[in-house]
Parts: sequence; C-alpha cells; structure tokens
Amino acid sequence: MAPLTRSRARQPGNVPTPLNACYYSQRASAGLIISEATQVSQQGQGYAWTPGIHTREQIDGWQRVTDAVHKAGGLMFIQLWHVGRISHPRLQPDHMPPVAPSPVKPEGQAFIENERGEGQLVPFVTPRALQLEEMPYIVEQYVRGARNAQEAGFDGVEIHSANGYLLDQFIESSTNHRTDRYGGSVDNRSRLLMEVVEGVAGVWGSDRVGVRLSPMGRANDISDEDPAATFGYVAERLSDRKLAYLHLVNPLLATMQDGTEPDSRPIDLLKRIREKYRGALMLAGGFDQDTAEGWIEQGRADLIAFGRKFIANPDLPDRFRQRQPLNSDDPTTYYGGGERGYTDYPTLAHERGEQPKPCVDVRWR
Ligand SMILES: Cc1cc2nc3c(=O)[nH]c(=O)nc-3n(C[C@H](O)[C@H](O)[C@H](O)COP(=O)(O)O)c2cc1C
Repeated sequence: MAPLTRSRARQPGNVPTPLNACYYSQRASAGLIISEATQVSQQGQGYAWTPGIHTREQIDGWQRVTDAVHKAGGLMFIQLWHVGRISHPRLQPDHMPPVAPSPVKPEGQAFIENERGEGQLVPFVTPRALQLEEMPYIVEQYVRGARNAQEAGFDGVEIHSANGYLLDQFIESSTNHRTDRYGGSVDNRSRLLMEVVEGVAGVWGSDRVGVRLSPMGRANDISDEDPAATFGYVAERLSDRKLAYLHLVNPLLATMQDGTEPDSRPIDLLKRIREKYRGALMLAGGFDQDTAEGWIEQGRADLIAFGRKFIANPDLPDRFRQRQPLNSDDPTTYYGGGERGYTDYPTLAHERGEQPKPCVDVRWR
C-alpha cells in the first residue's frame, strides 16, 4: 500500500485516532502498508490535519494504529516527512516562514485551516533559506522521528524524498541554488538525504529503512536540469546503503494512466536507476494487476505499490487473487472528513452480505 495522505488527524495536535487505526487495519492484508506522510516536526508540516510523529500524544496515537494493524496480521512502515517550502506561516511555529534550501517561492497554494476551522487554500510565500548551522538539526528531526516511530511500534520507516518536499528540494536543481556544501554538484545536493539515511539507519538498521524518490516528477513546482544524471547518481549512492528498498514514483504514471505512448526519457531513466540500484526496487503509480505482474515478470521492478486502488479497496490483495472487480475511489473524500470515503468502502465479504466487524471502539471517540 503506497503512502496516502488522508488528512484526518485529530485536532488540535495532529494526533492519529482510532478511526485511523480502523482504516489501516482494514488494509492489513497488504504485503506492507506505508503510512501517510507524517511530519517529523511542526516546521515539517505543510497541510492542515496531517499527523505528526514528534509529540507524546502522536506517538501514543500511532501505537494504537500499529497495534491494530499487527493484530490484523499486517506490517507497517511510517513515511517520515518534512515539507520544506510547501507550507505556510499559518502552519509553522510562531507563524515563521517555511524553510527551504533557497528562497524560491513555489507556484500554487498551501492548504491551511482558517479561523472557522475549515480548510482553505492560500498562496505560498517565499521560504527562508536554511543556514548551514541549522542542517544538523534538520537531520535530528528525522532521527527523532525514527526513534519515536520505533516507540510507536512501526516495523520500519520510509524517508520521503519525493514529490517536491524538503529532501527533494535539496536534490533538484530548480529549488537548490546554494553555493555551500549542500548545493551545486549532485553530490552536494544529495548530501542532506544521505545524512538523513545515515541517521535514521543508525536507529533502525538500514534493512528497515526505505527511501522514496520521484525522478522527473513535477509535483509541487519542482524540476531538475538533468534528471538522468541526478537520479542515477542518487540511486547509485543509495545502492551502497543496503536499504529495505528504494521506492520510485513512476515517471510513466501519466502515460500509463492515459494509455498514451511515453517518450524515451522516463523509460531510459527507469532502466538507468534499475542498473545503478542493486537492492529491491519498488514502483508506484498507474499500475493495475496486469501491468504490475508484467513489470515484475520483466524484471523492471521487485515490488509494486498501489495507492488509489487501496483507498477504495481495503481487501485489494483478495480482489486481485480472485480476479474480482474493484470499487472505484472518490476523490472528493481523499482529504479531511470522517468515515465516509475512508472506512466505508466495502470488502468482498461485505458485498456477499456479511456484516463488517465494527473497528472503531466507540469509547475512544
Ligand atoms: C489522496 C492521495 C494522497 C497521497 N499522499 C501521499 C503521501 O502522503 N506521500 C507520498 O509519497 N505520496 C502520496 N501520494 C502518491 C501515492 O503514494 C502514489 O504514488 C500515487 O497515488 C500513484 O499511485 P496509484 O496510481 O497506485 O494511485 C498520494 C496520492 C493520493 C491520490
């Protein structure tokens, strides 16, 4: 199950709830659940109502989630997240500007909570460039998150270095204009990721740590002048680290989805990463059962993660095994709200008329 932000943490405090435990435990038949992106600090938060892993309450909330998943026979990694510039002063400590490698304002809007407690889109602001002296504290935020995740009973962690968030902002040239040892060469631009990997692996052991990258992804107004060189290098460096896996957001997602012919660049880039990275490679984005099986048989990936299909099908592995039709997902209930569009998608058993077990303990509400 791919990481999926659902923006349903309890307020105030961005605390995981019994409803979140219900949602994840319903999906415990996944080979591995990767949690929704989870901020490692308040500075790392970029959207209203996303959960964190930096307070006592959040650790306790996640403990209930991992307990429920383990009781249902599942395994779960937490996705550790710092959004960097993809935030807004309203979400930041003391309403300070968000931090980034360089003061480059993203195009687009941040999702915040307004005075009436409703979600609202507001324009991004120019972030503050991190000082060299602050860098160890950024690494420390991830290391603390990793320790807290261990206390909360997770089975491992995935470092979110994709989709235009902080670590990706350092890696890609459009957002990193630094001239110190965190900018310029790709070696320098990937330094922060490597330091975070090292720190987090020090807590968990590298075989319990995954890394997610999104080569050629354009989410959150990011781009790189030479993605083949940049991501080829990062993959090669990560290959030495003996991680649990390297997870890529599929650069062919859009073409696979529309059924159009991709150009050769993303295909070549995937081949290059497959050559450079010698460990387990996970891909996510635009797959169905047949394309997933095809890619694994052809040796293009070792693991395929499913996102939207898991939102709508809590028993996705069973449906694949039995070649049963899938429920379709409702994008209007992706973010925020309660049980609707979250824990009420039916399983096959449910469709046969069996009563689903209630999984929210009413005493916790
Ligand atoms: C509602 C929603 C929330 C998402 N949240 C995250 C997230 O928290 N972290 C992340 O790395 N990717 C996130 N993604 C991307 C997914 O992990 C996945 O890469 C994407 O949905 C493509 O896979 P699919 O075609 O199987 O859905 C999200 C996608 C969706 C639709």
